Formats: sequence, structure tokens, C-alpha cells
Amino acid sequence: MNNQTTFQWLTAALLLCLLAFQPLPAADNQLYHELGGQPTVDRITHELLDRILVNEKIAFLFEDTNREELHEKIANQICMETGGPCDYEGLDMIEAHSGMDIKYSEFDVFVSDFIAAMEAAQVPYRLQNRVLAIFAPMREDITYE
Ligand code: HEM
Repeated sequence: MNNQTTFQWLTAALLLCLLAFQPLPAADNQLYHELGGQPTVDRITHELLDRILVNEKIAFLFEDTNREELHEKIANQICMETGGPCDYEGLDMIEAHSGMDIKYSEFDVFVSDFIAAMEAAQVPYRLQNRVLAIFAPMREDITYE
């Protein structure tokens, strides 16, 4: 092998190494970023808790709830589900709500408060719909009817 061929092989090998160690493509974190990242996620969560903890139709379920702990878990969950850089480490939705006998109508109240919270956080309508499309299917795990 002459010098030129050796050089070409080395260049090709180097390129292959560089390609092999490319970082993995980023996860689809589009929605999280379109929402405005963690400040918006925290704002939505704050507005949501402001509503559900005093909403006379569902507040009785949260009588023993520590607001800060629930804030952290819900914010982490919204962050992760929208593709943000968070790990939700709370209970899964079946475990978290088992034994509460949550009705469809109570789930709807929660969702209305969620929408109002996104309005208050100035989340554009089209993004609200994308967030709801993620959380609405959780109804079957959360309710008992
Ligand atoms: C998509 C809708 C919902 C989501 C994403 C959600 C999310 C969560 C999360 C992340 C937790 C914390 C789990 C843990 O402790 O590890 C939780 C707990 C809880 N959720 Fe939900 N939830 C939803 C709907 C509801 C509804 C409809 C109700 C009642 C009407 C409800 C009542 C509660 C209560 C009472 C707790 C326990 C709070 C505590 O720790 O004291 N949730 N939920």
C-alpha cells in the first residue's frame, strides 16, 4: 500500500469513527419547547393546583395532599410526557388514583381546570390540544367507572 492509499484508508476510518460516535438523535421534545420549556410547565402546574385544590367538586379528594410534592410530580410528568428532559418517578396513574373511586364527571372537572390553567399560562389553543391529546387517554386508568 502506498502512502496515498494508506492516507485514504486512515481518513475513511477516522470518518467512520466520527459517525459512530455521533450523539443519538434528540428525542421528540418539540412540544415541551414549543410550550416554552420548564417555566411554562411550572406555571401550568401552579395554575392547575390553584384550581383543583379549591374546586368544590373535587377538592375533598386532596384534603391530605402536600401541594409542593404534588406540584413536583405533576410538573415532572407534564415535562416528561411533552418530551422535556425530566424523569417522572411518581406512581403510575392506576396506582396513584386507585381506591379514590374517581368518576368520569370528576375527571372532566379536572380536565376543565387543566384547560383553564393552560389558558392562564397563555398556552396557545393548538398547543393546548396537543397536551390534552397526551393526558385525556389517561382517563381509563384514573377513573373507576
Ligand atoms: C390526566 C389527569 C391526571 C393526571 C395527569 C394526574 C396526575 C397525578 C400525579 C402525577 C399524582 C402523584 C402520584 C404520586 O403520588 O406518585 C396524582 C395524585 C393524585 N391525583 Fe391525579 N392526575 C389526574 C387526574 C386526577 C383526577 C381527575 C383526580 C380527582 C378528581 C385526581 C386526584 C388525585 C389525588 C387525590 C392524588 C393524590 C395526591 C396526594 O398525594 O395526596 N387526579 N395525580
